[in-house]
Amino acid sequence: MVKGIRKEAFDCEKYVSGKSMDEVMSEYGLSSVIKLGSNENQYGPYQCALEAMRSEVERLNIYPEKNYIRLKELVGEKMGVDGNWVSLGHGAGNVLDSVAKTLLEDGDEVLVPKESYRLYREISKIMGAKVVEVPLKENYTIDLADYKAAFTDKTKIVWICNPNNPTGSVIDKNTFDDFVDAMPENCWLVIDEAYAEFCDKDLLPDAMRYIRAGKNVIDIHTFSKYYGIAGGRIGYLVANPEFVNWYDTVSEPFNANRIGLAGAVALMENPEECKKYGELMMKDREWMNDELDKMGCTSYPSYANFVFFSTPYDAGEIGEKLLKKGIIVRPCGGWGYDKHLRVSIGTTEQNKEFLKELKNIMDSMK
Ligand SMILES: Cc1ncc(COP(=O)(O)O)c(C=O)c1O
Repeated sequence: MVKGIRKEAFDCEKYVSGKSMDEVMSEYGLSSVIKLGSNENQYGPYQCALEAMRSEVERLNIYPEKNYIRLKELVGEKMGVDGNWVSLGHGAGNVLDSVAKTLLEDGDEVLVPKESYRLYREISKIMGAKVVEVPLKENYTIDLADYKAAFTDKTKIVWICNPNNPTGSVIDKNTFDDFVDAMPENCWLVIDEAYAEFCDKDLLPDAMRYIRAGKNVIDIHTFSKYYGIAGGRIGYLVANPEFVNWYDTVSEPFNANRIGLAGAVALMENPEECKKYGELMMKDREWMNDELDKMGCTSYPSYANFVFFSTPYDAGEIGEKLLKKGIIVRPCGGWGYDKHLRVSIGTTEQNKEFLKELKNIMDSMK
């Protein structure tokens, strides 16, 4: 056994990502695979990003500079604030991690949604915080009243995923005002909006209103989903400039790479393809939910780039049978949802293929 590992690491669990395409191809002897297990954007990378990223390769010997500032300015413009209200990271995952590093210390408590993105829990534990899991409601939504009831004077961070992964649900936006007002003085609300661009804006709280008003609120986004450059690893946060300064102090310098930055800047300057395919994916999401219901599944409203549904059968078994057909999905047993699956919205062709194979499998299990 190696020596010297931090004691907190012993409480942590490794992040389990969806199966990779290479793994599935070699395991099942397949020549092609449809990957709908990690909520990537199958229409990406978009043309403008591809061109910008290709040309940026020429400058890889130099640390990121111009685009680093430019991206902060562009995000600031979109959010209605100056660039010094924005900071970056290697994907939203890294941003979340650096937020934990900025705020958490031994003895702090954090509130996390129990059936949600797992990283909140692990990055909090490694910082020595006590994790309090708040279960979702029976209709698979996060209820802020349950969080309020769990506040103690040690609560330091409330991690919220909106829309939530894996359920796709959104929090009632009318409950935020009251919640933010009730937060203990040192407590921060972190809203992870990784999937926000796939949701009607009117259904989401105006995080910027709280941030501008000086509330302890941090808004986190990613270029991995709607913008289609998951491999470029760019995420960002918007918060009060004083917080941003502390975040920049504790996170590593140049915490975003030149290629990803070039892609992200191009995507913000040329939003047409994101919009076109974003709308298509949202349309396909509703159509997929209808088709799933027709074949005997129960789908739930999703506001993200995936569908969340249950079948009458064990989800792990369905997932395994789909894998044999070369389709990677995410069975939700790890969240305690033994009959539920989360399936990313792919291209329309991929979605059709998935629905066809799922129907065959369900028919064969009757
Ligand atoms: C809710 C949520 N937050 C953050 C992330 C991390 O995204 P990124 O690729 O930007 O690190 C994911 C990735 O699946 C996610 O589902």
